Amino acid sequence: MSAAPSVVRVDLGKRGYDIVVGGGVIAEAGARIAHLRPGANVAIVSDTTVFSHHGAALRSSLSKAGITAHEVLVAPGEASKSWRMLEQVSEGLISARIERRDLVIALGGGVVGDLAGCAAALTRRGIDVVQIPTSLLAQVDSSVGGKTGINSPAGKNLIGAFHQPCLVLADSDALDTLSARHMRAGYAEIVKYGLLGDGVFYDWLEAHWQGIFAGGDERIHAISKSCAMKAAIVARDETEQGERALLNLGHTFAHALEALSGYSDRLLHGEAVAIGVALAFRYSARSGLAAAVVAQRVERHLRAVGLPTRISDIAGGVGASADIMAAMAQDKKVSRGKLTFILVKGIGSAFIARDVDGAGMMRFLDDEMCGR
Ligand code: GLY
Repeated sequence: MSAAPSVVRVDLGKRGYDIVVGGGVIAEAGARIAHLRPGANVAIVSDTTVFSHHGAALRSSLSKAGITAHEVLVAPGEASKSWRMLEQVSEGLISARIERRDLVIALGGGVVGDLAGCAAALTRRGIDVVQIPTSLLAQVDSSVGGKTGINSPAGKNLIGAFHQPCLVLADSDALDTLSARHMRAGYAEIVKYGLLGDGVFYDWLEAHWQGIFAGGDERIHAISKSCAMKAAIVARDETEQGERALLNLGHTFAHALEALSGYSDRLLHGEAVAIGVALAFRYSARSGLAAAVVAQRVERHLRAVGLPTRISDIAGGVGASADIMAAMAQDKKVSRGKLTFILVKGIGSAFIARDVDGAGMMRFLDDEMCGR
């Protein structure tokens, strides 16, 4: 018999919600959803691959709770975070007669969660959404905190809305169908939490990361701890006026690298985050903010797990340092033309650095790309 799931609360007053983390929570989803919104009409938004793995279990759980669900399926992959798919999902919800008091269930990884959340935010001026993240990355990051969106050809997540879910169900067993590469990519976001604000958690991760990949209690602990850290930050700064930006450690670099690799399988989001985190530590060390040995320690751990840490690790390359600078200038972390980066003073102590010197950053990227 599996242990009772762990529950993390995102404390946003009347809009607060639970994140339930544990093995087998998809099988219990129907009872939880029926309790949350009795009599609601429900639409499941998913991608065809995830639905083939988890759709039957979710449907059967909903049906046992007396809920009949409509389905809106999209193709897997980052390309689905597009205007065209947003239109398709919104029209799907309208055809299924999902009303304001009904529910959208986003069943999938970060792409589905962001797309379904965005469609739910816009359709009928806002329908509640239950996030059921099925990738490690979505369980520890994108399903929590209400950021939803699609990509523009000019950059990642440039169109979207804050739309908090009313429940998040993170089934740790669902990760058993994930490839090793996608597990590693999700793990990069877990490491990020230790690095940005909890050195003790980072030490634990260095010692226990193999247990997280294997499954069981260590996996549940890592997911719950990551969600708890994110929940606390979101509760204090829901719309990223300040502190929430710390969650973007490594992401200004990462989003530029993803844009330059065409949001393709050449570079998964979590892999880009791993490179971005390593760059943030090396840039901080070079600027005299953090010790070089700390940057080396972080790089060693990411590489031990099998994650990339260098721009040169990206198959097929991403152009020149000027291209990376131009792509970073499109990121939302740009305010009135000044670059904002999350830098570090050490493990567990990240801070927001506004007004980072563009010329110095360009020299850093030049050196990185020449292997200096
Ligand atoms: N992924 C960063 C955030 O949710 O703020």
